[in-house]
Parts: sequence; C-alpha cells; structure tokens
Amino acid sequence: MTDGCPYAELYTPEFHRDPHRVYQRMREAHGPVIPAMLEPGVRGWMAVDYTTIIAWCRDTGTFSRDSRRWRDWREGLVPEQAGVLGMMEYRPNVLYADGAEHQRLRRAVTDSLGRLDAADIGSYTAAVAESLIDAFCERGEADILDEYARLLPLLVMNRMFGFDEESGRRFMTALADMMDAVDSERANAELERVVSAVIARKRKEPGADVTTWLMEHRAGLSDEEVLQHLVLIVGAGNEPTANLIGNAMRLVLTDSSFSDEIAGARIAIADAVDHVLWRDPPLIGYPVMYPTADVPLRNGGVVPEGSPVLLGFAAANHAVAQENAQSADGAANRAHLAFGVGPHRCPAQDFALMIATTGIKTLLHRLPALRLAVDPDELEWRTSPFSRSLTTLPVSFTPQAPSQEETPWKQPPSPPETSTSRPDDSARSVRSSLSAFLAMFRRGR
Ligand code: HEM
Repeated sequence: MTDGCPYAELYTPEFHRDPHRVYQRMREAHGPVIPAMLEPGVRGWMAVDYTTIIAWCRDTGTFSRDSRRWRDWREGLVPEQAGVLGMMEYRPNVLYADGAEHQRLRRAVTDSLGRLDAADIGSYTAAVAESLIDAFCERGEADILDEYARLLPLLVMNRMFGFDEESGRRFMTALADMMDAVDSERANAELERVVSAVIARKRKEPGADVTTWLMEHRAGLSDEEVLQHLVLIVGAGNEPTANLIGNAMRLVLTDSSFSDEIAGARIAIADAVDHVLWRDPPLIGYPVMYPTADVPLRNGGVVPEGSPVLLGFAAANHAVAQENAQSADGAANRAHLAFGVGPHRCPAQDFALMIATTGIKTLLHRLPALRLAVDPDELEWRTSPFSRSLTTLPVSFTPQAPSQEETPWKQPPSPPETSTSRPDDSARSVRSSLSAFLAMFRRGR
C-alpha cells in the first residue's frame, strides 16, 4: 500500500506483510476507527482500538450484525462477484442476528456445544494429532499448515458434528476458498450442498453429535437454520483454530527467545497460545457490524449508517500488548479480544484453546528439533481482509518412526465414532479413518 492512501487496503500482500505498521499509521491519522478498503471497490471501516471495540460490541442498539443493513450493498454498489461477499452476505444464523432472535439461536448453539464431552474431545484431539504426525514423520519434512494445523481442527469438528470424511474434506476445501475470498458463490454453494447431505443423513440416523442436538433443540430450528448454523459453526471453528496453531508455530520457529522459553518450560503452552492471541490472533477483522444511525467520531468524522465496520481485534490487541510490554512487569493476562466481546463472544473458546494447545504440544513433543525449512522472509500470508493466515509453513526435522504400532494407513476407512464412545476407542477410530481422509483431502486441494 502507498503511504498516501486514504484507506487501509486490507487485501494487499504489503498490508499482510506488516499490518501493524499500517494500523499505527492509520490510527495516528484517523483515531480509533480507520477507513478501510476490503477489496478494490468495497469500502468500509475498521475499529482498531480496544476500548472502542468493547463499547461498540456491547452497544447493540447502535450496532447491528445484520448485513442486510449494508448500505453500499443495498444500493447495488458492491460488485456481485466481490470475494468478500462469502463472509459478509447475510445468512440466517446467530452471527448475523440481533436481540431476541440472537438469544434464541445462541441458546441452541451453546446448549448443543455444551453437551459435548470435553474429556472425550480432548483425548480424540490428542489421538488425531499423533496420527497426523505419523503420516509425515518419516519424511523429515512437511508443510505443517496443510498437513497438520488445517486438518486437526477439521477432524475434531468432524467428530463433534458427526460428519463423514468425504463431507469434511469437501467442506474444508470450500471454506478455505471462501476465506480467501476466491469465487465465493461457488464455494458457498458447495458448503450448503455438503451440509444438506449431512442433515439428511442425521434425520435418518440421529447420533450423539452437535448436528443432531441442534436439530432436536427446543428452540425449534428449521432445516434451513440448522444448515446455516452448521456452515457457521464448522466454518467459524476450523479456520481460526487452524490459523492459531499456524501463527503460534511460526512464532516458535522464527523467534528463538519464544521457543527457548517454551523449551525451558518457563512458559506453559497455554500461556504461549495467549501470547499469540495478543500479538497475532487468527481473526484480524471479523465479524462485521453495521451502525443503525450515523456514528460521530472524535476527530469530527462520521461512520455513516449502514457502513461495514470490521472488528479489528488484532490491531486492538497488539496495541495493548505493546503498552503492557513496556510496563514494569510485562505480565500476560487473558483480557485480549481474540474471541470477541459482548453478546456475540465466541461460545467455543475452551474447545478452540484445547484443540490449539493440544496440537502445538503434541507437535513440539513428537518433533523437538523442528526447523523452518525456508528463510522467515519467504513465508507468505494469505490476503484475506478478515483473517491472519500463512499460505504454507514448511519445516524440516530429524526423521522419526511413527508412534503407532500398526501402520494406520493400511486399514479400511470407517465412520467416525460418536462422542459417547469410550476414550480408548478414539485412537483406533482415528487410525482406521485418517488414511482415506488424508488421501481425499490432498487430491481435493
Ligand atoms: C482460535 C479459534 C477461534 C477464534 C479466534 C474464534 C473467535 C471468534 C470471534 C472473534 C467471534 C465473534 C465474537 C464477536 O462478534 O464479538 C466468534 C464467534 C463465534 N464462534 Fe468462535 N473462534 C474460534 C473457534 C471457534 C470454534 C472451535 C467454534 C465452534 C466449535 C466457534 C464457534 C463460534 C460461533 C458459533 C460464533 C458466533 C457466536 C454469536 O454470534 O453469538 N469458534 N468466534
């Protein structure tokens, strides 16, 4: 981006190489809410200040989540093929709902997620992590984003939601396209096709999974609402969790003081993850809010009614983390905004942290001599205005023998177990189903 540009251009490789330089310059010029270009021709704003984000997220009278209020879109000024539409176009789900409707839908989501057995999901996550590492550990090199970070949450979510492997792979592929704002219409249609098929299957064969619990919830979700919530929850869960693992591993591999702290057990993995959530959170400008009336700014400007306002969690967190780093103790705390704030705050924070922490811990334990296989400057970021995500994270390490006694990949695929199965079954289930899934996933990407 050019320094004279009146907008933060959130879609350029230059922005993603050093977003905090842009946030700082724009904050100095405009204050806590900066004008932004989401992609060429799509204008909006980004709140980049900690207290402003908290206040605005709680002010549900002035700020709506319903993107049908988006003025440029209403007036036909947003190109039909705009890539950001995939993440911004209205869907009848909890993320876009306000008031009583939001409460109804949110209750269905939190109750259904609340029925999951955390211990079972935890042991399943560990088993999946081990099996994923087994798939590449003899090679001595891997792309731990594609071969690990992006697959781990997906496979865990497959279990939570009772997806079969083929549905999970197709879903993840379409989701990645949508996040990258690539042909979002096609990606959207594919997501809905996959999830409709899962719902139809669950109607015939209910299971102990979030899909079934959403369908059965007393909030009385229609089939369309269940579909929209599956797309939302699996989407909202997969990408940021994968990117949290990726962003944390990048820091481990590029910042020797950070990795030394972890290796010397001076910092617990959970605290290291918090550090990343402060410094480099996976969601940088999402979700989006729309003012219901013109909002005056301290600098005399106005955010007009119906403008998209991206929640700039990364900018806000980073600025506060910088201030804390300069304070006497520099102590970490968990008051970051990476999981949002107010009535829409992420309802699955504990699951997300459990998956990310287990994933990082298992990787560092199994492959202690992990090294970045390229120069740190060669790492590239995806250019989504909403998320912070590397394109690849190539590593090398001393080749290792797989940890599983039998070769998991020789066994025929079987459907994922339900969450009521015994924890002992987790590893067996993972071993028997991963091979086919991984092969399909790689063919699909
Ligand atoms: C590191 C991983 C994750 C991050 C950083 C994250 C972050 C967020 C953020 C920032 C929001 C919006 C909060 C707001 O508007 O104030 C959100 C909402 C949401 N998240 Fe997460 N999330 C993660 C993982 C997950 C997972 C694993 C799930 C599901 C299993 C999930 C389900 C949801 C849902 C359903 C909402 C919408 C809530 C509502 O609108 O009321 N998230 N998340």
